[in-house]
Amino acid sequence: MSENSNVPAAINEQYGDLVLKIERHNNLYYTLDNPSISDFEYDRLMQRLLELEEQYPELRSESSPSQRVGSSPLESFTQIQHRLPMLSLSNGFSDEDIHDFNRRLLKEVGLDEAERLDYVAEPKLDGLAVSIMYEHGRLVYAATRGDGKVGEDITKNVKTIRSVPLSLPSTAPDELEVRGEIFMPHAGFAELNRVQASENKKVFVNPRNAAAGSLRQLDSRITAQRPLDIFIYSIGRNSDVSFAETHFLSLQKLGEMGFPICPLIEQVAGVDGCLDYFSRLSDERAELDYEIDGIVYKLDRLDLQRSAGFIAKAPRWALAHKFPAQEKSTRVRDIEVQVGRTGAITPVARLEPLFVGGVTVSNVTLHNRSEIKRLDIRVNDTVIVRRAGDVIPQIVKVNLEKRPSDSVEFTFPSHCPECGSDVVLEGEGVISRCSGGLICGAQVKQAIAHFVSRKAMDIDGLGERIVEMLVDASFVKTVADLYKLNIEQLLTLDGFAQKSAENLLEAISSSKKPELAKLLFALGVPQVGETTAEQLAVTYGSLEALSDADQAALEALPDIGPIVAKNIVQFFGDVNNRKVIKDLEDNGVRYQKIDVSTLPDIDDLPLSGKIFVLTGGLSSMGRTDAKKKLQSLGAKVTGSVSKKTSVVVVGTDAGSKADKAEALGVAMIDEAQLTELFSDFD
Ligand code: IVH
Repeated sequence: MSENSNVPAAINEQYGDLVLKIERHNNLYYTLDNPSISDFEYDRLMQRLLELEEQYPELRSESSPSQRVGSSPLESFTQIQHRLPMLSLSNGFSDEDIHDFNRRLLKEVGLDEAERLDYVAEPKLDGLAVSIMYEHGRLVYAATRGDGKVGEDITKNVKTIRSVPLSLPSTAPDELEVRGEIFMPHAGFAELNRVQASENKKVFVNPRNAAAGSLRQLDSRITAQRPLDIFIYSIGRNSDVSFAETHFLSLQKLGEMGFPICPLIEQVAGVDGCLDYFSRLSDERAELDYEIDGIVYKLDRLDLQRSAGFIAKAPRWALAHKFPAQEKSTRVRDIEVQVGRTGAITPVARLEPLFVGGVTVSNVTLHNRSEIKRLDIRVNDTVIVRRAGDVIPQIVKVNLEKRPSDSVEFTFPSHCPECGSDVVLEGEGVISRCSGGLICGAQVKQAIAHFVSRKAMDIDGLGERIVEMLVDASFVKTVADLYKLNIEQLLTLDGFAQKSAENLLEAISSSKKPELAKLLFALGVPQVGETTAEQLAVTYGSLEALSDADQAALEALPDIGPIVAKNIVQFFGDVNNRKVIKDLEDNGVRYQKIDVSTLPDIDDLPLSGKIFVLTGGLSSMGRTDAKKKLQSLGAKVTGSVSKKTSVVVVGTDAGSKADKAEALGVAMIDEAQLTELFSDFD
């Protein structure tokens, strides 16, 4: 805490002592489970601290223990860009998967099959990932994982979690970002639900949802009352490059600094050690006071982790070994069909609700008519439902012994239940599709709901109910009609007043300049998700160029198979879709074109055939811009350095990639040279 000139020196000193004492007792009580004073004494210290802060408000700092009780509500969460992306983990389900993982790693780090790698085995906690940043020993922000690149600022909420240190000892690195999992212990969860129910408030379905709901409170005073806890499991940004040589030691050092580390974490030897840990923890799981859904194995040596590197969104050096699925039985109340965005008709089993694998399940998709046949499922049957971790629940089989005499066979409708159009069969009779296209309200509604969703055009305030009203009133038949809406129309709809109608029109209007990838995703080409849309956008740069691409050119792109390629060609070949795209344009929707050279010339570009790796920060441009520019010049930009790499661009604070380039004798250039290179081709 800083010296405050208006505060008497004795008070300053007393306050400083109190802060240290309270935080030490917080650590003893919440992190080490080893309190050394009574609750009464603790409350007295806290009381005195609050009195002093009341009397001398200038004493109150961002890392005062008084922050633990929360403060006045925020208007909304702001966004925080992660310095290093927050990744996820690849999953393994069987012993064989773990052997494969180990074999891959042995190969990756250049060891013989017979040699042994040491791992750290940790419970996979079922909560929410958080990144907490400390600068000069002070907690400066905490953020959710978000999409891995950008998260939400939940600093105030995280500060209320008593086991999170607000300040660190002087030995801590100047910049230290720790990552961990926030969760709600079972006991606290049961008590919270008891209180919620007695006050007629929302009851949470599982501890994870309760933890998520508690963290997403704009009013941190509510979070402060929720029994949240945290375990730290890794380090993000760290200014001390020689912090530790192994993952295990780094966790130990974090523990010594006051961070809560899961006490069940162990160093284990080879696959045998991993599997032995897995079986011990499977037995202990039911007795733990928190939910875990598997075991995470991580290569212990950090230098080996670095050389193993990453694939897409997960590290190669870690694996989540999931516990097997849980299975339970229940009764089928009914079988119904749903019409999806692209007209696909999917049968759904409506079940007597059951609690399995941590969630309540009442609807399970039956996928298609051949699945119904395979299961031989009927209304009133007793079925076994399985759910594993975050996987969607599924019906494994029907218990035929329990089939009642009144079981009812399901007949697939020959007409769309929404619009009455014929149902046509595709894909050798497996897929049923409504032939109504744009006259089918269900399809139009879902296409519009998808178009406006956050990851697409991101139009705020257009929830399902409003979309439904707009379509039912015939104001909107295609997504382009959204941009033709006027205030008079909106005012005729239930629940709209002048202000809310203006707000909606404003939100629609401000969506008119989307990124190409977002627009492409929003259009809803079957099976073109966000990542594919992004890839198509940077490859083709405009909708015209993409519409001209043929099946073969599309299939030549990485990650695009024949089915997706065919869907794209069909989508852009369809007259109705072309009309909608033109209509969007005529009504002011202008996406940002990307400057790319068209594919056929790619071999002739100045950097064709060259493989670049970017590492460290660049000051005159973002890494993404540099990457796009390099790609537009024909270079391939990859994430890890190998013998095949042509050039490594070394920015500020570059880490192991620069070392590796040096070791392999790969050419390196700095930012100034990169800028020069670009200017050569301008
Ligand atoms: S390590 C790059 N360790 O699992 C490695 N993650 O599917 C990233 N999780 O988002 C995470 N327990 O929220 C790690 N002991 C543990 C974990 C753990 C739970 C979560 C974490 C992450 C998700 C990945």
